[in-house]
Amino acid sequence: MDSNVSAPDTKTTEAGIDLSDIVEYETELPRADEEAPEKRDKKETRTLLRYLENHLVDMNVDKYGQSTPEGYLREMLSLRDELMNFQTLMMHYECAMSEVQTKIEVLNRELALVQNRNPIESIKSRIKTPRSIFEKLDRRGIDFTVSNIERYLQDIAGIRVICSFIDDIYKLRDCLIQQDDVGLLEEKDYIRYPKNNGYRSLHLILEVPIYLTSGKYMMKVEVQLRTIAMDFWASIDHKMKYKRDIPNEQSITEELLYVAEMINQLDRRMIQLRDRINGPS
Ligand code: GTP
Ligand code: MG
Repeated sequence: MDSNVSAPDTKTTEAGIDLSDIVEYETELPRADEEAPEKRDKKETRTLLRYLENHLVDMNVDKYGQSTPEGYLREMLSLRDELMNFQTLMMHYECAMSEVQTKIEVLNRELALVQNRNPIESIKSRIKTPRSIFEKLDRRGIDFTVSNIERYLQDIAGIRVICSFIDDIYKLRDCLIQQDDVGLLEEKDYIRYPKNNGYRSLHLILEVPIYLTSGKYMMKVEVQLRTIAMDFWASIDHKMKYKRDIPNEQSITEELLYVAEMINQLDRRMIQLRDRINGPS
């Protein structure tokens, strides 16, 4: 299955079908994630389409013993509808992500004025790529369908908020979830209860409404809040996770845990220092 997911570099599939028409269904919405520019999105969609198309060819042959042009066309058209639904859903997630990002930016502006310093260092947001969605569902043995994406995945829209201080994280969290149109579906406080490897962050799964011409939709957005130091740690940890056959992996894991504790001490002492300089906020 994986071999079918590798990025194709032409618009024609192995079965000789020209994908250009179907690929035109892609929305041209700009992505908030600078690492996923339009070009990559198109490639991702084509990858996905190729996987589904190959899958359908197999289905036709296995189920009916033959692959007729009419049957094939019918399958391709239904695939086209599914692709359209997929893109609509992604657009919904993009809108929800913008809504939550704006809420966070508004809070940052207000708190900056009141406290005379920005609580937020940076905000990064991203929509999960089709490939990553596909792989996550596949790992869990769930079929790649539009309804399954909505049902089983909570991190299609993701926002990472980097703060200087731990108390700002909790202040932002409180301000966010007390808003009338923000629902808190799930919370994982890895700051109070760090993971065994030392990972610290506050994870929220929020539900917010978006209003489109066709009505109101409730969408989930994952928000991860962490300090600059925690983010630094997580980026090194992430690099290690995706690297295979690292020599001395065990000792690196131990060192990471040790450093995580140092970072925790540092974060707490920075608050004390800040308060000694400014007085408690
Ligand atoms: P997944 O979404 O499948 O990861 O499962 P989950 O929802 O149970 O996970 P959780 O909420 O604990 O973590 C979701 C996200 O947090 C991950 O996708 C990562 O971005 C981040 N994360 C969680 N644990 C770690 C960790 O140990 N190291 C790093 N670097 N990031 C982590
Ligand atoms: Mg998750």
